[in-house]
Amino acid sequence: MFHLLSVFIFFLFIDNSNSSNTFIALLDPLSKPSPFLSQKLWYSSIISSLPASSSSSSIIHVYSAPIHGFSATLTPDQVKSIRKLPGVLSLFPDKVLHLHTTRSPSFLGLETPNPWMLNTSESNSIIGFIDTGIWPEHPSFSDHNLGPIPVHWKGQCESGLKFNHTNCNLKMIGARFFSGGYDAWFGQSGKPVKEFRSPRDSDGHGTHVASIAAGSPVPGSGFFGFAVGLARGMAPRARIAVYKVCWASAASAGNEGPTLATVANVPPWITTVGAGTVDRDFPATIHLKNKVSVLGTSITLMHDDILTRKYYPLHFAAKFNSSSGFNFSRQLIKGKIVFCRTEGHVARLSLGAVLKRARAIAMILSHGNIDPNGIVSEPHVIQTISIGALEGKVIEDYILYDENPMAKISSQGTISMHAKPAPIVASFSSRGPNSLVPGILKPDILAPGVNILGAWTDAIGPSGKALDFRRSRFNIMSGTSMACPHVSGAAALIKSTHPDWGPNEIKSALMTTSTIHKHYNYNRNKPFSPISDESTGNAATPFDIGSGHMLPIKAMDPGLVFGLEHQDYVNFLCELNYTKKQLQIVTGKKSHCSNDSTWQLNYPTVTVEAEKVWHGAVVVARKMTNANKGSSEYKAKVVGPKGYYKVDVKPKRLKFSGISDQSLSFRIVLEKESNMHEMKNLWFGALIWSEKRGKHKVKCPIMIFSAKEYSGG
Ligand SMILES: *[C@@H]1O[C@H](CO)[C@@H](O)[C@H](O)[C@H]1NC(C)=O
Ligand SMILES: *[C@@H]1O[C@H](CO)[C@@H](O)[C@H](O)[C@H]1NC(C)=O
Ligand SMILES: *[C@@H]1O[C@H](CO)[C@@H](O)[C@H](O)[C@H]1NC(C)=O
Ligand SMILES: *[C@@H]1O[C@H](CO)[C@@H](O)[C@H](O)[C@H]1NC(C)=O
Ligand SMILES: *[C@@H]1O[C@H](CO)[C@@H](O)[C@H](O)[C@H]1NC(C)=O
Ligand SMILES: *[C@@H]1O[C@H](CO)[C@@H](O)[C@H](O)[C@H]1NC(C)=O
Repeated sequence: MFHLLSVFIFFLFIDNSNSSNTFIALLDPLSKPSPFLSQKLWYSSIISSLPASSSSSSIIHVYSAPIHGFSATLTPDQVKSIRKLPGVLSLFPDKVLHLHTTRSPSFLGLETPNPWMLNTSESNSIIGFIDTGIWPEHPSFSDHNLGPIPVHWKGQCESGLKFNHTNCNLKMIGARFFSGGYDAWFGQSGKPVKEFRSPRDSDGHGTHVASIAAGSPVPGSGFFGFAVGLARGMAPRARIAVYKVCWASAASAGNEGPTLATVANVPPWITTVGAGTVDRDFPATIHLKNKVSVLGTSITLMHDDILTRKYYPLHFAAKFNSSSGFNFSRQLIKGKIVFCRTEGHVARLSLGAVLKRARAIAMILSHGNIDPNGIVSEPHVIQTISIGALEGKVIEDYILYDENPMAKISSQGTISMHAKPAPIVASFSSRGPNSLVPGILKPDILAPGVNILGAWTDAIGPSGKALDFRRSRFNIMSGTSMACPHVSGAAALIKSTHPDWGPNEIKSALMTTSTIHKHYNYNRNKPFSPISDESTGNAATPFDIGSGHMLPIKAMDPGLVFGLEHQDYVNFLCELNYTKKQLQIVTGKKSHCSNDSTWQLNYPTVTVEAEKVWHGAVVVARKMTNANKGSSEYKAKVVGPKGYYKVDVKPKRLKFSGISDQSLSFRIVLEKESNMHEMKNLWFGALIWSEKRGKHKVKCPIMIFSAKEYSGG
């Protein structure tokens, strides 16, 4: 046990020692005084004007795209003087994040040696994965120096094709497969399928997801030179139990990976997670022959490739389409860069595979998004650069109006942190409202789900295409199913510090401490701008982010929690009109609906239909439980746009005496303002309980929306 602890501290220690005095400065390129011919000369003059230090300062790296600035070794005094200079947008320590490449845990603040992180009880947490199985030999599932299997574990390790009990270890303590449905299909089609009839993962998705939540630390990870460094899960010491229920089919289009049962529905005990971006980027540039450059992102371009040295002919994919369909023959495609616009759902990885087979040089994918920062980087078989809609237009115009359009492409590698404002809600992230039970806000929370590095199976290449002969221990993927394991891992960490908490308390802690602001923004004057929505460019609403982006460290100590008891679940099912018999099946015992007609689900959000508030005051009841020892007092404050709805809280103060697990109730009264003459269809704000003489803040989003206007959205 101690050995692993020391190894782990060792990494963290290196990180801190190197980070002490290297800084990255971001500058506004438009502020460059005109006498300086280049950005670099400007930066050098800044450095030479600084107060002297014992060792001479010099520029370590110049960033010219997509951010502008430099890194340098600086003393605290020098830092102070740089901050005062005009044109300096931001100055922050370079944390040598190449040691923390699964950027998301460090983005979530899980990089400092917090005492709870070293708490052995983390290894008592077991996370179950219902997915495509696992690649057991992967180093992310090494049980190096993990203690004995928790005594409460009763699961099994099931044998099958290329998998037996020796594949389970102290990390992956359980593995099962359920292939009834698959067998039925398999028997019917009679075709051989490349699939292991065992917990072994032939797809990659399950392996990826398990490593995000609970992967052991693996130094020297990365994806073909991108995101290189130490990879680790959110709860690197938690145990893993695998349930393989998703199966590949011969008919698989394959590029989306099997979807987990999309839990985009009702049960309050399931946490629904939206996908957000992190601040890491893989910038790449398209240089058009007319000297115009366009920025994008790529994880498939090599640093020093033929593509960066020579111009190649650039063509629209549509050019190869006719009434008889697309003709991507080798004669037509070989040696060309092909520009593809992907509106809606296009099998992008398959498209790449087709172009690769035809010997295209590279693919440019123009996404139909507004915000180019949020574009996903995908493990295409062919060298690919993804760009936003605006950049796409620049290239389209060039191809249309130039007689002989040519381009070359270069990659700037990986910018580990602060490459772009984050989080931003990914366009593909599913949105509320909850169509079945509008009274419960969904999704619950936002977590990193874009360009996430995770473990990969050896059974197939990272693109999931048969033609893909690459094998990579890690892969970069995006999706809400990459966001979910971040929450599972955070939940395991919280569970290990609060072993007596159930899923509701953990979920409440994650939700009430989450943030609706970006962690990081370029603009120093707007450090706390709201999380935005990639698909619109506007500020996100609770329909996109639920209560907000999770902050696991804050969630360790939420102050108060909204708890649920067995009867709450029963009553919830009663509201869904479950019969007595169904209730018994679900709850596992004889259960009765509450006779109390005023019952309400004690959820950490308040969602009310505008139509109801329009017709009269709506009263919502909630109660909170003290999660700390000792007495405390909390004061209520409601924030939100004025002039539409009036939100009152009764009482406005809650005094917890210090009795353990004490719960106190309160009511929220929602009314329309007398001067609102037309119903406001969407209003959202929050109730914030702030601890008096204490640090805890408990946030509960309040959402009033027209069910008519937004139903089914
Ligand atoms: C570790 O977990 C135990 C059990 O929950 C708890 O009592 C203890 O305070 C924790 N230690 C730290 C350092 O958080
Ligand atoms: C279990 O798998 C290992 C590794 O694949 C193999 O060496 C061993 O013979 C297998 N054991 C049994 C009982 O099948
Ligand atoms: C290909 O061309 C045909 C005929 O012009 C057209 O109907 C079809 O929509 C095109 N396909 C695509 C994907 O653009
Ligand atoms: C595709 O184009 C090539 C080259 O022009 C031609 O030889 C071939 O017949 C075409 N294939 C089809 C299916 O039209
Ligand atoms: C349950 O039944 C009642 C009465 O029939 C109905 O008004 C209500 O809409 C039903 N609820 C759901 C969630 O189906
Ligand atoms: C509701 O009332 C019925 C009949 O009075 C009783 O049998 C049942 O136990 C009550 N349910 C609860 C949850 O109190």
